[in-house]
Amino acid sequence: MRISVIGSGYVGLVTGSCLAEVGHSVTCFDADEEKARMLREGRLPLYEPNLEELFLRNRKEGRLSLAKEAAEAVRDVDAIFICVGTPPLENGDADLSAIDRVARLIATESRSSKLVVEKSTVPVRTGQELKRALAVYGRSTAAAFRVASNPEFLREGSAVEDFLHPDRIVVGVEDGQAEKQLREIYQPILEGRFRCPVHPQGCPTGSAPAFVVTTIASSELIKHASNSFLALKISYANALADLCERLGANVEEVTRAMGLDPRIGPHFLGAGLGFGGFCFPKDIQAFIRLADRVGMDFRLLKEAEALNNRRIDSFVEKIRRALWVIDDKRIALLGLAFKPNTDDIRFSPALKLAERLLAEGGRVHAYDPKAMEKARAALPGACYEADPYATACGADALVIATEWPEFARLDWEKIRDGMSRPLLLDGRNLLDPKMARALGFEYESVGRPEGDSFCASA
Ligand code: UGA
Repeated sequence: MRISVIGSGYVGLVTGSCLAEVGHSVTCFDADEEKARMLREGRLPLYEPNLEELFLRNRKEGRLSLAKEAAEAVRDVDAIFICVGTPPLENGDADLSAIDRVARLIATESRSSKLVVEKSTVPVRTGQELKRALAVYGRSTAAAFRVASNPEFLREGSAVEDFLHPDRIVVGVEDGQAEKQLREIYQPILEGRFRCPVHPQGCPTGSAPAFVVTTIASSELIKHASNSFLALKISYANALADLCERLGANVEEVTRAMGLDPRIGPHFLGAGLGFGGFCFPKDIQAFIRLADRVGMDFRLLKEAEALNNRRIDSFVEKIRRALWVIDDKRIALLGLAFKPNTDDIRFSPALKLAERLLAEGGRVHAYDPKAMEKARAALPGACYEADPYATACGADALVIATEWPEFARLDWEKIRDGMSRPLLLDGRNLLDPKMARALGFEYESVGRPEGDSFCASA
């Protein structure tokens, strides 16, 4: 199928590259000139495992092209995936102006009928507005448009894998023709009929994804409901962690046992500095606003959000208790990205923590395997070091703010020997407390008070 993907951020680049990988002819477009230039030069504006390889190979093999003009991207294709950003407005609503612009463009430039798929995360009823805009602005063309919703469930850091091996593909449609077209687009993935660059031996789960067909409104709601529920789970684990600290229990023992119940599940019960990134914080806010607008006070989500916002305060308090005074202390910060395996620092708890420590006069020396470049621009007050050992050298405290797996494998004796004071504050429960204390660190983590019996696997 001839597909175009509008918007070349995380979602657009992964969608475009993966749809090309499974055999479609894909054209990508982004209105941001700088981003578009980078892509034409074969450079990606973001880091995502496996994406560069996929993008470059499909470009080379001719299945993936880049449109210079927006009109060129929409004219002669069968389906258009809208993957533009929907950032939060001041009041928490999602900013839908980019979607509106694309809708008007599609309506005025299309010369043939097509399927228009909203993939960006949008509030319920965006599909209706999209349909209306296409009809109004496209009234003088002979083209007819079918609108569908197809939310993405891609996690940064494993987005390519998530796209090629999803557990579900949700499509919100109004007619059988749109469903048929989307089924055709996803057929290679539904049948595992492609050579997976991430798992050349075959899909790791071994089971075909569910193809879930719903109304457009339900499909739109599924995305917000899923992200908000996961955020809720994290906040619940964080509340439990606070309770564990007061009661002398270990949050990991508690959540591990809870997670063995299939009704609860083991995922997203990791306590720490809270959730960040460009999805959960903005999606939970947008969902609360959406409920407000239809007269429902979604207090459950408001509390989950408030609890998350307090995570940094309580961790700064922990650091203050340990250091007594933060002012003029050298603090080593390991991790800047909002989570491992990405260079994304948007709404990163690690960055928020660094800002707070700098504001209190702390001398922050930071290191992250991938996010240094972006952090330098966003947080010029910190010193950026070449590796974790240089970061820790002479430090009064070391804070783990992102759980990069390589941090667990550091030579911690070397780290300890370089520090002024071997104080380790693990904001992501990455290390085994027993191991850290046995090495002579004063060690604090989240919800795992000293004297607990847990033996972590890190
Ligand atoms: C999230 C969802 O997981 C995806 O399914 C969804 O498609 C995506 O948002 C989106 O809306 O586009 P992502 O933001 O990449 O993906 O990251 P997650 O892995 O979900 O983590 C979000 C935040 O929660 C991170 O800051 C992470 O550190 C934190 N987290 C996660 C915890 O604090 N504890 C956990 O147990 C899990």
